[in-house]
Amino acid sequence: MFDKKTYVERRNRLKEKFQSGLALFLGNEESPMNYADNPYHFRQDSSFLYFFGLNYPGLAGVIDFDEGKNYIYGADLTVEDIIWMGNQPTISDRSLKAGVENNGTISQLEEALKKAKAQGRKIHFLPPYRPENKLKLFDWIEVHPAKAAGEASVELIEAVVEQRAIKSDEEVEQIEEAVNITVDMHLTAMKMVRPGVGEAEVATAVHRAALAAGGQISFPIIATINGQILHNHYHGNIMKSGDMFLLDAGAENAMSYGGDLSSTIPVDPTFSERQREIYNITLKAHEAAAAALKPGIKNLDIHLLACKTVARGMKEIGLMKGNVDDAVKAGAHALFFPCGVGHMMGLDIHDMEDLGEVYVGYEGKPKYTQFGLKSLRLARELQPGFVITIEPGIYFIPELIDQWKSGNKFTEFIDYDRVEAYKDFGGIRNEEDFLITADGCRLLGKPLAKTIEEVEAAKGEK
Ligand code: GLY
Ligand code: MN
Repeated sequence: MFDKKTYVERRNRLKEKFQSGLALFLGNEESPMNYADNPYHFRQDSSFLYFFGLNYPGLAGVIDFDEGKNYIYGADLTVEDIIWMGNQPTISDRSLKAGVENNGTISQLEEALKKAKAQGRKIHFLPPYRPENKLKLFDWIEVHPAKAAGEASVELIEAVVEQRAIKSDEEVEQIEEAVNITVDMHLTAMKMVRPGVGEAEVATAVHRAALAAGGQISFPIIATINGQILHNHYHGNIMKSGDMFLLDAGAENAMSYGGDLSSTIPVDPTFSERQREIYNITLKAHEAAAAALKPGIKNLDIHLLACKTVARGMKEIGLMKGNVDDAVKAGAHALFFPCGVGHMMGLDIHDMEDLGEVYVGYEGKPKYTQFGLKSLRLARELQPGFVITIEPGIYFIPELIDQWKSGNKFTEFIDYDRVEAYKDFGGIRNEEDFLITADGCRLLGKPLAKTIEEVEAAKGEK
């Protein structure tokens, strides 16, 4: 964890925004896979980590705005626990590392919350996403699990988003470490991709690189010859000549900060002519978006710039037609690019998505509803300290093409006869991570092979 002064400062900044009441931060519990003693890898709640730093299950933190005091609640290990899990510091010792001097047990927390509720004090909490924490809120303060997200404190959500969105230098250092591990994961894959190799073999090597660097993966690995399926977690195919392999994978470092990169790699030593053509359109969209990053520009405009670059490229090769601006305004390009240009990244790979995309990406305003645009996670103005991904892609999704074609959708902008010949193409995405600086942006981590020449060279077969 960081030095305790980081957590003290973070909590003090939060306290400045509230006159009264208290904020309850629920840490996560172990989450069972198939029985209680066989849990998934433990992942702490990111807002709890941000304000209290302690990466252990079964904790809750309270900031009392009236008293100006901080509390950590949890249970010390019994000798029975120590037999199975080894000795560990007491809650009180751990809390001091986060600059918190007040402790209690979970039943003392329950008592304190019930008392606060009876006194009519406001108990701010964030939207719970795990069933255990929803049940705690039900038990302790009578918030029905089905209504918990709606009853979460918008004031607290907005205050937490405002703080967590701006990454400090020490956070950027952690994120950059995660991105560097992520680059190594991708370089490992590039060297392995060739006919006869299984997606699972590459996914395993990529996962190994993350674990060997002392961390974890930051989200389930996408390692697939079917890159047109955006979040494809199937790893059962064997690569064959003519395929392209899409890797979207990232490391989470020991401090739980994440990296997120995507690469598209030809299974043959070089890209085919048809692959080069589409790859270069994606790359142009990526580079145009990255070059425009600076404080004050809306990420919506970065997204639209990428969309227009995709549409222009597709028009140049005859898959789209008509006026590019009109096509993008209507949403016709979304046949090939049905998602957003990127998202915030930090302690979560889609940073703070549990707090709600309208607060993280839209300053509380509603999201767009148009197909494609509705999947943009971040539309607001960029500010120095934001860390975001840039990841436009081109995807040929046969089912979507068939549906749009049979519905004669956007026939003024799409040449379906030409598109038909690409239904076996797959998908392409490149992704990089950027810090918004005072006057532009900075690529985080060591550069990853991205141009056709760089990717072919990184394969090491030429
Ligand atoms: N890398 C996974 C995603 O951005 O959704
Ligand atoms: Mn991403």
